[in-house]
Amino acid sequence: MSSQQTQSRPESDSDDEATPQERRLERKGERARANKRQAESEVDSRSDAEAVRLKVFRYDPDVESKQKPRFDDFTVPYERGMTVLDALIYARDHFDSSLTFRHSCRMAVCGSDGFFVNGQQRLGCQTQISDLDEPIRVEPLPHQSVIKDLVVEMDHFYERMAAVEPYFQPDDLPAGDLEEQLQSHENREQIKMAARCIQCGCCTSSCNPAQTDNKYIGPAAIVKGYRFYMDEREGAEAQERRLELLDKEHGVWQCHTQFSCTTVCPKDIPITEEIQAMKREAIKRNLKFW
Ligand code: FES
Repeated sequence: MSSQQTQSRPESDSDDEATPQERRLERKGERARANKRQAESEVDSRSDAEAVRLKVFRYDPDVESKQKPRFDDFTVPYERGMTVLDALIYARDHFDSSLTFRHSCRMAVCGSDGFFVNGQQRLGCQTQISDLDEPIRVEPLPHQSVIKDLVVEMDHFYERMAAVEPYFQPDDLPAGDLEEQLQSHENREQIKMAARCIQCGCCTSSCNPAQTDNKYIGPAAIVKGYRFYMDEREGAEAQERRLELLDKEHGVWQCHTQFSCTTVCPKDIPITEEIQAMKREAIKRNLKFW
């Protein structure tokens, strides 16, 4: 549709007659235009020639001279749009090939580059250098054993995720091979934020109860439990097993509603609210009426 056609569209049929799909696309377009306007209006105070100072945690148990934890300084050239992950990659590729950290997608999807940057859990690939004070201090996620440099042990985290059975176990499968298992729009809305979890571990690293109770299942696993428990397509038995697991001493009741998980979540998942929702489900399950 040409811009002339768009302008001549009568006002009266813009919202009332548009299909939900058209309205969604329209809203998406508005958001994209607003983001573009904001990006254009923002003045990046740095110039490309400027340098970025990084202080990066270093530790290598396999090399005698590096067994004592320390911070190394790196100065890397700044480029507009540079992220913490970009700066680390530059430092590794140009200054020290032994600098070790996880990364993969570079677009906040794989969840592998959770770091402690300037005192907060963040994704390296999502954190703009221009938003940070210097020197930028990059450390491994706190409260997890360090394997090397910025790489932490994630086994315990994944074990807790696995405990909530984070996969579908529907009671009834659709009849035909290619038949869809439909979900209502309302139900999708209810779980859509929880479904964004990329298992980066930032929430669990920020959670004090998770550090003081090694058996606490933790915010990430509860969010995963919520995502499947609340899904209307899930089977009753699997839902019951998940709720039973979460309704335990080391389950949802360890959450102190501290909100640190919600604060640091790079996907903006309302984690604390969802944990409270699971507490309500647990209470409802235990209510008895005589
Ligand atoms: Fe995949 Fe950052 S590299 S989330």
